[in-house]
Amino acid sequence: MSRQQRLGVLRQHMQDQHISAVLLTDRFSKYAVTELYSASGYVLVTPAHLWILVDGRYSAECQQNNPDVDVLTLTAEHPLSHFLRLFIGGERLFADASQLSHLAWQALESQCGLALQHWDASALRVNKYPDEVAKIREAATIADHALETVMPLIRPGISEKALADHIEMAVRQAGGSKTSFDTVVVSGTRGALPHGRPTDKKLTTGELVTIDFGAVYQHYCSDMTRTFALGNVSEELKAIYDTVFTAQQTARDAVRPGIRCQELDAIARDIIAAAGFGEYFSHNLGHGLGLDVHESPALSPQNAQPLEPGMIITIEPGIYIPGLGGVRIEDDVLVTESGGEVLTHSPRVWEEICL
Ligand code: GLY
Ligand code: MN
Repeated sequence: MSRQQRLGVLRQHMQDQHISAVLLTDRFSKYAVTELYSASGYVLVTPAHLWILVDGRYSAECQQNNPDVDVLTLTAEHPLSHFLRLFIGGERLFADASQLSHLAWQALESQCGLALQHWDASALRVNKYPDEVAKIREAATIADHALETVMPLIRPGISEKALADHIEMAVRQAGGSKTSFDTVVVSGTRGALPHGRPTDKKLTTGELVTIDFGAVYQHYCSDMTRTFALGNVSEELKAIYDTVFTAQQTARDAVRPGIRCQELDAIARDIIAAAGFGEYFSHNLGHGLGLDVHESPALSPQNAQPLEPGMIITIEPGIYIPGLGGVRIEDDVLVTESGGEVLTHSPRVWEEICL
């Protein structure tokens, strides 16, 4: 079971780094080692113990869901600082500074007389365990099914907003609990906005439309983008599509353990640059995916981290030309022992995406 394994990894890391106590504060890291999935509450880990600390709204349910864990109730008389003083004393305490406000960080230090130190909690979740892979695989399948359901609606006349609403409904009907972020639907010249919000603009013949959405299944996310052609589109838009398609497929096929994130990014970026569109690919090639829709590793030109089996990443190159439109194709890929396994399968070949 991934939680026990991950706790073992965390404790090994603590031992290697001489870390005596870690406080997890964000919902994803807490859920990675316990059954607590909430922005509220804390998980405190020492070499020999693990506590969940939540207020009275959550304690009964939390104890039910975590029968083998000490669940402590936070009250006005016994706030977090009380328990930290009790359990940690004057030891150093590590927490992820990116997940606590400056105010909360300072308050903990002054109330507990502790030296808080930053520790990147998300690093724990970079490699996925088999039960997590299974959930992300299902989230990807749900996204595929949802897109299949709405395909007949992707026609001239429907508004971007209405299409986004149908996608969100289709995700739930296909078994997702929700979408993994606000669904992107952008058409025509609005396609040049990589993360544009859907508007009342109606889809029109001769345009491209880009749809970017994901499903959440048992708290795990998928993330997929497709760009469709509505009737006959200009040669210029077709050329952009072909370039993104080639860049995406080539990068996807290059996924394997050991390749550096920046090498993968460069594979796609070089193809787009060689076609003359380099300045219009304005973001990273992709990102890790798991409990959060954006996790490490970043597939950026700067990141020299090598891929490892068990990572799940997105491959999502795009070209966005102001005043003309845009194209992005995104798939979720599991890094395996020998290469990559694509988890999202919706049509991406030109003939199949012409509506
Ligand atoms: N597909 C949404 C994102 O990666 O930000
Ligand atoms: Mn993405």
